[in-house]
Amino acid sequence: MKRLQRVIALMLSGLLLTATLAGCGGTAASAEDSGDRTIIRIGHNQATDHPTHIALLAFEEYIEDRLGDKYDVEVYPSELLGSQTDMVQLTQTGAIDFCVASNSILETFSDNYTLFNLPYLFSSSEAYHAAMDDPEITNPIFESTTKAGFEAVTWIDAGTRNFYTVSTPIEAPEDLKGLKIRVQQSPTNVEMMSRLGGSATPMGFGEVYTALQSKIIDGAENNELALTSNGHGDVCKYYSYDMHQMIPDILIGNCAFLDGLSEEDRAIFEEGFDLVNSVERQEWTKAVEEAKDKAENEQGVTFLYPDTKPFQEICTPMHESLIEQYPDLKPIYQGIQTYNEQYPAEAAEGGAEQ
Ligand code: GCU
Repeated sequence: MKRLQRVIALMLSGLLLTATLAGCGGTAASAEDSGDRTIIRIGHNQATDHPTHIALLAFEEYIEDRLGDKYDVEVYPSELLGSQTDMVQLTQTGAIDFCVASNSILETFSDNYTLFNLPYLFSSSEAYHAAMDDPEITNPIFESTTKAGFEAVTWIDAGTRNFYTVSTPIEAPEDLKGLKIRVQQSPTNVEMMSRLGGSATPMGFGEVYTALQSKIIDGAENNELALTSNGHGDVCKYYSYDMHQMIPDILIGNCAFLDGLSEEDRAIFEEGFDLVNSVERQEWTKAVEEAKDKAENEQGVTFLYPDTKPFQEICTPMHESLIEQYPDLKPIYQGIQTYNEQYPAEAAEGGAEQ
């Protein structure tokens, strides 16, 4: 399956690169002139029942309703176009137009993204949402990759990340000692895991199920949907709300494509990007409730609610080191603290226990 995906990705990259290079000087205009529709390819790594996929289908419908004479939007789920890292590279070169990437993965493309990967950066989901909705916080980061050929066009809620294991209940950081835990491929995640005492095993999302099943790893960390939509709850029986990260997913677009849009079309695309954000957020709340219910009642997963403070105390020194390393991020970090004060932690803890 992996090989097949790679072959498809390679075929698409060759084919699309030719198309995009030919169109860089005015893709939209030449498509209009010839009466052809420009195909817009969007890749992501979630299943078709996932809020991200539902939101991108809403985007497809919206763009085709308004600009269907010019554009044909195609959404490719389930890593069909490759892993997130592959898809970011395809978007960068213009081989595809958009993809959804975890903020974690983007850290390896621009240091600025490191900020949103910090453990315990946001005090509650309300603070997280308010900060991510504030362009003063997100724009400097979202626009920092234009030289690399892509930019972020909206963020997508991916809930709260927590540890889950095949057979070890995680009640305190000590319980992670000696366990191999899959993390996303980012230096911040590896550091967080090492600080907490587990052995960080970075790998792509698509490889986690098999790694859990074959006991190459003892556990992983993610939101609740990984248990159901990705089947990890069939293997992992303990999910522990330590609430270590709220890492957004980011919809990124190829700059040459975005810059080639007319002002009117760009305005419609912007509405489409907002729609991705709002549809996904509505779907998200429902999806998390359903995932918890299914995990508990059908997959036999036990949910645990440990004291998050010991985890937090170990991780928060990472904030100061980051600001020391990247002083330009300080004003954005301080902006986030304002939201943290406005929306303190109690609300989030209540949310997790619902
Ligand atoms: C979440 C997130 C994905 C990410 C995945 C992972 O599902 O939404 O973007 O790829 O976690 O852990 O890799």
